[in-house]
Amino acid sequence: MAIWVVYESLWGNTAAVAHAIAEGIGDEAKAVSTASADPAEAVGLRALIAGAPVHGMTLPTTQSIATATAHKVNDDHAEPRTDEPLMRDWLDGLPELRIPATAFDTRVRGPLGRGAATAIIRAEASRGCTLLAQPKGFRVDFRNAGPEQADLLKEGELSKARAWGAELGALLS
Ligand SMILES: Cc1cc2nc3c(=O)[nH]c(=O)nc-3n(C[C@H](O)[C@H](O)[C@H](O)COP(=O)(O)O)c2cc1C
Repeated sequence: MAIWVVYESLWGNTAAVAHAIAEGIGDEAKAVSTASADPAEAVGLRALIAGAPVHGMTLPTTQSIATATAHKVNDDHAEPRTDEPLMRDWLDGLPELRIPATAFDTRVRGPLGRGAATAIIRAEASRGCTLLAQPKGFRVDFRNAGPEQADLLKEGELSKARAWGAELGALLS
């Protein structure tokens, strides 16, 4: 049975973390965007890990994405990806699930408090999921966007994501 690491990501930072987590878990895990994973199919999963960027201390909204698009700092900055479903809508589409689950987010500020991961854990619990591990936050630089995809992540965050994935894999084995 598969393990999904589902992500929402405007500039590729959360996507890069999701891929590193899946790599750490092992072959059974795959990183998928909210556009490429149908929440209704999550019933067949062994575990679910979901992640999103923190916007305004919680999950992105249509409004926060509009703000992100409007505040492009200069023309050298990459355009945000805005054509994929919001994580909050993806979670709304989840059926009743009795599987282990956890969450992560990318954020400028740590440690985890109110944030996207906390909102995701709440949604997973409301579907009957059990908490696989405490949620984790990964740090990005304080900029809205960079010239390349995934270039806001702070040094060492991808290794941290791989290591966390390995811990999750061990908990599931
Ligand atoms: C509209 C907007 C609101 C944000 N609000 C917060 C916030 O409340 N706290 C925080 O730590 N980071 C905040 N950030 C920074 C994002 O977390 C950062 O852009 C994100 O981690 C980049 O990930 P992505 O490339 O996957 O979209 C905000 C960013 C945007 C664009």
